Amino acid sequence: MRCAVFASGTGSNFKTLLERKSSGELHADFVLMVGNNSKAAAFQHAQDHNIPTLHCAPSHFQSEGEYSEYLLSQLQKYSAEMIVLAGYMKKLPGKIVARYHGRIINIHPSLLPAFGGKGMYGSNVHKAALEYGVKLTGVTVHFVDDEYDHGPIIVQQCLAVQDNDTPETLAQRVLALEHATYWRALEAICCGKLVLEGRRVKDYG
Ligand code: GAR
Repeated sequence: MRCAVFASGTGSNFKTLLERKSSGELHADFVLMVGNNSKAAAFQHAQDHNIPTLHCAPSHFQSEGEYSEYLLSQLQKYSAEMIVLAGYMKKLPGKIVARYHGRIINIHPSLLPAFGGKGMYGSNVHKAALEYGVKLTGVTVHFVDDEYDHGPIIVQQCLAVQDNDTPETLAQRVLALEHATYWRALEAICCGKLVLEGRRVKDYG
């Protein structure tokens, strides 16, 4: 499965995917890395693995139409069959979401639909979970549709919130769980095990 990865920041999830690919556990081909922030460490991870990179942000274009046409042309150029969001902080244009329906995945650091939606990313998510007082939080991998953090759920993993947790300690444990979870979800897709029926994702592994 030829995958384009979109990342905005540290790219630790992307790095983990690359490591699982190198160890032979993940059967995905990473054909392109797209980032909106040229300083993102994710670019370095791609370069370390000789993966072509593309620095491309909505602000580089006069309209969303031009932006999506350009992105689509690049995805086609590299024959990307699937898009993997790994800490990508921009909303994908509707045209791309429609073209790649059922072929875009994202990872989110909470148990959706809790603590998702616009503005809910990174430490905002963990602050909100602690303020709410949840006893369980975790990780959600989901298909992407045209609403933030809303598409069909592929897998969720949970962990217990401790009384002395801070947003930072929680973020650390959730991120470790993300690293253990994302590659497995992608591998299930690469092996053709998942079937999407409405909002339900069934695993015929
Ligand atoms: C991860 O925690 C990921 O779940 C989150 O951004 C972080 C990126 O870390 N994504 C979202 O909040 C999406 N709504 P990374 O760059 O080290 O992979």
